[in-house]
Amino acid sequence: GIDITQLRAQSGLITYDPGYGNTGACTSNITFVDGEKGILRYRGYPIEDLAEHGKFIETAWLLIFGELPLKEDLARFSALLTAEELIHEDLRHHFEGFPSHKNQPMAILSAVINALGSYHPDLYDINDKSEFFLAVGKIISKVRTIAAFSYRKSIGRPFVYPDPDLSYCHNFLHMMFSIPYKQYDPPEEAVKALSLIFQLHADHEQNCSTSTVRMVGSTQANIFASVSSGICALWGRLHGGANAAVIDMLETINNGDYTIDEYIEKVKKRECRLMGFGHRIYKSFDPRAKILKKATHDLLQHGFSDELLDIAMQLEERALSDDFFIERKLYPNVDFYSGIILRALGIPVAMFPVMFAIGRMPGWIAHWYEDYTNPTSRINRPRQIYTGETPRNYVPIDFRK
Ligand code: ACO
Repeated sequence: GIDITQLRAQSGLITYDPGYGNTGACTSNITFVDGEKGILRYRGYPIEDLAEHGKFIETAWLLIFGELPLKEDLARFSALLTAEELIHEDLRHHFEGFPSHKNQPMAILSAVINALGSYHPDLYDINDKSEFFLAVGKIISKVRTIAAFSYRKSIGRPFVYPDPDLSYCHNFLHMMFSIPYKQYDPPEEAVKALSLIFQLHADHEQNCSTSTVRMVGSTQANIFASVSSGICALWGRLHGGANAAVIDMLETINNGDYTIDEYIEKVKKRECRLMGFGHRIYKSFDPRAKILKKATHDLLQHGFSDELLDIAMQLEERALSDDFFIERKLYPNVDFYSGIILRALGIPVAMFPVMFAIGRMPGWIAHWYEDYTNPTSRINRPRQIYTGETPRNYVPIDFRK
C-alpha cells in the first residue's frame, strides 16, 4: 500500500532522528518485532514455537527462503552444507597472516568471509535462484569452519577438519574441541543448546549489523562483502560484544571486586552499564531472554555447571525491583543468559561475538537478498543536519594563528 515513487518525490525535508530510533529505512517481510508486547516472529512464526520445535538449519531456511522447508528442501540444504563445509586450501593460508596469540576472531571472521568472495567472483552478481542457493550454502556452511579455525589458530592448535557425518552444530563443536585421534563427542543437550542460541540470534529486523548489511548491499556490493560488513558492525560492545561484556561484569562481581548492590549503584551513577540489559525496541521483555533463561536452567540440570548463574539471577532480580531500571524499561536482553550457556558449552569468551555472527548469518543473507531483489530499492544515503562553521575565507599558512 505504500507508494514509494510518491514518497521519494517528497524530498527537501530532513527528519532529525539520531540513531535512527524512529526511521523506517525499508519495508521487509522477514521478521516482526513488537517491543511493547515482547513479540518476535520470523516469517510469521512465533519465536517460541520455532525454539521449541525447530532447529537452526530449518530456521535459516525459513528466514532466507520465506517458508518452512519441506523434507526434500531440508535434505537438499543439508547436503549442500555438507558439500560446502571445507574451505579452499589457499584460503586456509590466510589464517597464517594473523598473529596466533591475542588474535581477534572477529577480525579473522570478517576478513576471511570477505576473502571467500574472491574465490567465487562468479557469485558477485546473482542472476538466478540456483546461484543464490549456492552462495547461501557456501556462506552458512563455511562461516562455521572459519569460526572454528580462528579459535584453533588462537590457541596454537592444528585445525580440525569438518566431519561430513555430523549435524551442523555438532560439527562445529567437533572442529572446536576435537583433538587428534580423539573426536569430541558433545552431549545431546550441548548440541541442542547451541542450535537454540543460533536460532534465537538468527534475525532481529533492522538491528545495527543487519542495517549495515543492507546499507552495504544497497550499493550492489556482493553478498560476501555485504555480510562481512555485518560482522564488523556486530563487533562492538553494545551489539555482538555484549554477551562477552556480561561475563566480564559477572566475573567482576564473582571475584569480589563489587557486591551486587555496589554494582547496581555504579550503574545508577552512570559509571558503567548493566550489560545484557536494555534494548532499543523491547520495552517490556525480550522474548529471547525468557527462552534462554529457561534453557540455561535446563542445561545446568543436565550436569553442566556455572558459578556465574547465581550472580546473574540475583543481579536480574535486584535490577528488576529498582526504580532506575523500571522507569527506563530496562530488562534482560538475549545476551544476559547466552553468555552463561556458551561458557557452559566450553566456548571461550573471545569467541562469543563470533557465535553471534554464525547465528545472525541467515538474517543478514535474507535481508541482503530482500534488498537485492527489490526493484524499488536504491542506494542508502542518509542525510545530516550540518552544525559546522558558516562560510569563511581561506587563510594562507603564514597568516594562521
Ligand atoms: N544499564 C544502565 N542504564 C541503561 C542501560 C543499561 N544496560 N541501557 C540503557 N540505559 C539507560 C541509559 O543510560 C538512558 O538513561 P537516561 O535517559 O537517564 O540517560 C536510558 O536507559 C536509555 O538508554 P539509551 O542508551 O538511549 O538506549 P538505546 O536504545 O540507545 O540503547 C542499548 C540500547 C545499546 C542496548 C542499551 O540498552 C545498552 O547499552 N545496553 C547494554 C549493552 C547490551 O546489553 N547490548 C546488547 C543489545 S541486544 C543485542 O545486540 C542482541
